[in-house]
Parts: sequence; C-alpha cells; structure tokens
Amino acid sequence: MTDLDTAWRRLLEAGGRASGRRIAGLFDVEPDRLARLALTAAGLTLDLSKQPWSLADLAAALDLAGAAQVEAARAALFGGQIVNRSEGRPALHMALRAADGAAFQAKGRPVSPAVEASRAAMRTFAEGVRAGDIRGVGARPFTAIVHIGIGGSDLGPRLVWEALRPRDPAIDLRFVANVDPAEIELALAGLDPARTLVVAVSKSFTTQETLANAGIARAWLRAALGEAADAHLVAVSANPEAAAAFGVAPDRVFDFWDWVGGRYSVWSAVGLSCAIALGWEVFAELLAGAAEMDVHFQTAPLHANAPVLLALAHVFNRDGLGRPIRAVVPYAQRLRLFPAFLQQLEMESNGKRVDASGRPVGRATAAAVFGDAGTNGQHAFFQLLHQGTDVIPVDFVAVAGGEGEPDSQAKLLANAVAQAEALMVGRAEGEVRAELQAAGLDAAHIDALAPQRAFPGDRPSSFILMDRLTPRALGAVIALYEHKTFVEGVLWGINSFDQWGVELGKTLAARVLGELRGGPRGAHDPSTAALIARLADDPSASEP
Ligand code: F6P
Repeated sequence: MTDLDTAWRRLLEAGGRASGRRIAGLFDVEPDRLARLALTAAGLTLDLSKQPWSLADLAAALDLAGAAQVEAARAALFGGQIVNRSEGRPALHMALRAADGAAFQAKGRPVSPAVEASRAAMRTFAEGVRAGDIRGVGARPFTAIVHIGIGGSDLGPRLVWEALRPRDPAIDLRFVANVDPAEIELALAGLDPARTLVVAVSKSFTTQETLANAGIARAWLRAALGEAADAHLVAVSANPEAAAAFGVAPDRVFDFWDWVGGRYSVWSAVGLSCAIALGWEVFAELLAGAAEMDVHFQTAPLHANAPVLLALAHVFNRDGLGRPIRAVVPYAQRLRLFPAFLQQLEMESNGKRVDASGRPVGRATAAAVFGDAGTNGQHAFFQLLHQGTDVIPVDFVAVAGGEGEPDSQAKLLANAVAQAEALMVGRAEGEVRAELQAAGLDAAHIDALAPQRAFPGDRPSSFILMDRLTPRALGAVIALYEHKTFVEGVLWGINSFDQWGVELGKTLAARVLGELRGGPRGAHDPSTAALIARLADDPSASEP
C-alpha cells in the first residue's frame, strides 16, 4: 500500500495537472466517466462527474483514502472506540438511528438498550402531547412548541422542521437560538402560554444563549400561569442534573449521552420537538433514512462509497486545487437551511489546523461553506460563481419529484441542471464576439463587451438528487454529509468531534459582559477598550 506522504504528494500532483485542464473535455477522453462517477446510495443519486478530477486522479484520491486507512477509521467509529481523543469519547450518533435490536457499544459497553429505552420514552411523550393526552395547566392540550437551543441543538431540528413541516401543522413549532431578545420576542408573540410547551435543548445545559432564552420563556409562562407553569417546561440534555436544577421536572428531562456530538444530535431526543410536531412515524423515517446511509457507508467499497467519494471530491478541490470556499445550493425552498446546517457540521468539525496529536496538519482543511436556496442564490451570488476571480465549487441538491405546481417544479429543476452545466461549460469569448459582430456592434464595443459577457467555465460541481423530499431521503442526505465530514477528518488526520475553537470567544464574552455591567475594566487593546467604553456608557447595552 502507498504510504500516506506519497499518497498526498500524488494527490497534490494530480491537482496540479487538473488546474490546466478542462472538465468538460474529460467526458470525451473518458467514455465511462459518468458511469464511474455517478452512483446511488440510500435512495440518493450522486453525480461527481462535473468535478475536476480525471479517472486517474480519482485513483490517486482513492489511494489516499487507502493510505489514510479510512476503512480502519470507519471501523473504529462504528465500533464505539474513542475517536474524539481530546475529550476521550466515541462518536456514536449512528447508534441513535439504528433499528431496535442493534448492538452498538461505546468504549466496549453496550449502548443500544439505553438508546432504545430513551427512544421509547421520547415516543411516548411525543405521541402523548400530539394526541392531547399530555396537557398543560388547565388541562388544555398543547398547540405550540417553542424549541430553545443553539448550534447543534438548533440547526438540525430547525432544518428537519422546515424541510418536512406540513402546510397546516397541528402544532405551531417555533425556534429560538440567538441571545438577541428579538428572536424570542418574535417567537413568543401571539402564543397562548396555557397551550405552549417550552423545550429547552442543550447538551451541556451551560450554554449562555439557551439558558438566557429558557429563563425568559419560563418567566413568560410563570407570568401567565403561576408556579404550575413549570409543567410546560421540557429539557433535553446530556447534563440532566443541570436541567433539573433549572426547574424542569425530572420526568420531563430527556437525556442523551456524551458520545453524541451536538452537531450530530438531531437523531437523539434533541429531535423531540420535531417528533412531536411532525409525528413519530415521520421522525422514525428520518432515522431510517440515516441508518440506510450508515449501512451504505459501512459496506460499500471505497470506489463506490458516496460519503467517501464526496469527501475525496471536496478534498481534491480544497487541497489539490487550493480552493478555500464551497457553495451549497439546495434547489428546494424547504432545504434552504441546509447550508446553515452544513456550516456547523463541516466548519466546526474540520475547521482545525492541528491534528489529533496536536501537530500542525500541514494541509488546507475545511473549506468555508456558504449558500442559499436555488433559484434565489442565482440572483445574489451566482454572478461571482460564474465570473469571479476565485473558483468556488458548488454542491447542487435537487429533488426530482418536488411537490406543488408542476410547471414551477420543472422550472426549478431546469435551473439546477442548467446552472451546473453553465458553470462547467462556460461560454467562450470567441462565441460572444461572433454574436456581437452579427448584432452589428463596432470593434471597440466588441473588445470591451466580449470579455465581460464570456464565461470561463470549468467551475466544478457535485449534483445530489433526491427522488422526493421524504423524511427518509432527508435522513440519508444529512448522514451522507456527516460521514463525508468524518472521512475528510480522517484524510487530514484531525479530530472531527471536538470544537475547542469556540471556547476563547465564550470566555472573553463573559469577561466583557462583566465590564459592560459596570465591573472593573480589564486590559484590552485600544479598539476593544473603546468599544467597551462606548457600550458601557450606553444604558441599553449595560442593563443587567
Ligand atoms: O458552539 C459551540 C457549541 O458547543 C456547539 O458545538 C454546540 O452544538 C452548541 O455550542 C450548543 O451547545 P449545547 O447543546 O451544549 O447548548
């Protein structure tokens, strides 16, 4: 087997060769290109043929996966070994979505029975609330849920709800993440406290934003319903003691485990609000779709493994071609939050510069991810994608059988397909010149206009197609990206399951808060000191 350094060197060399070559031309010289680079997995179709790699480059990338021992790392992940070394934890989110009867172990201890018990409790509660059997003060059924959480305790559930919510939901599910009171004020507006369940979700139950918002929501409930209002409080946490100390009744605290990373937690009780508002069958299907992708990831050979190939395509762009940004454009309004979800998944997991042993990685790691729903993005940032100075690869996500007006759906899909084609094929300046000449423009005008109206092309993309936007397909696509993120971490040698980079800002924010509230001023750079002085003088900024 090729050693890791050699495999990396070959991948970088392949990237060098790719930079001087047209992607579209590869289809002419590689007749089986599409067959080799398009595959189906857990009901999803993944087309990586518009990526800049040749089939020889793909072989180099697969060699890198072999040299980095992706298969052994995958076995360690599924085997519940300590893959999150800095925190001494496994990362076993797959156990949460496995069907009953699975036998996952964390650090050698069985976890599946506890997962099943927790899932059963969650189901009983979700169905009880939904059926109106579990009621609030005054025996009125709950008709609204305010889900409070941030980061991984928010982005997954919010995405799932937006993607799958019925047009006329029985439960009005609202989300609050930001400590900016504007969000909770809007979320609570118009709700009847007597019919509202507040679900506070925090793995640590120490997160400033979530505790602040949960406190506001609790005060809102108590102001209307008195002390009995606490019956309207539910908590989801891996720190149930802290949730109980906050005032949540022990039988309303749904716990999960430290081996579930926040950004991988939507499959746990973190998804409780969705399970209530969407119904258990829908939530179970979401889990089943993710489990199907788990099986594919575990069993498919590397050359036909969707998460592995997607990771390699992204790494080929990131390291082989030095591209630091990637766009994700779901051509489905219901998936508009997918880019935000992936920002945390990919950037919090792999935005690291040292490896799991603390040594510099020596490679470019996670790309910055951004995006919005198509077609909206076409009218915002696509200009730069087509003609900007940087090449930004795109992941297109589309739904073949979208719901609603068929004519609009056809237009949506046509745009997705056409944009991917336009990015790759471009439009030669010579063609533009000929057109302008035919239109009768003079030479000076043509010289000025033609370069502006030409498209360089060669802008790579992946195309992910779902047959329909079902809970199962959504589960599969989320799990696809989870595993692709893991594979990238293995290639780079980093721990994808910790997030030390968020700590410094939290610590300093606590210090600055004390200063804004009139506490002694600490030492700061002049810019920071001036901002603190300005804000501390402003009563609205310093109110406790
Ligand atoms: O932003 C850092 C982080 O720790 C994320 O990893 C996590 O998803 C989020 O904060 C929320 O954490 P918690 O669920 O503990 O409130």
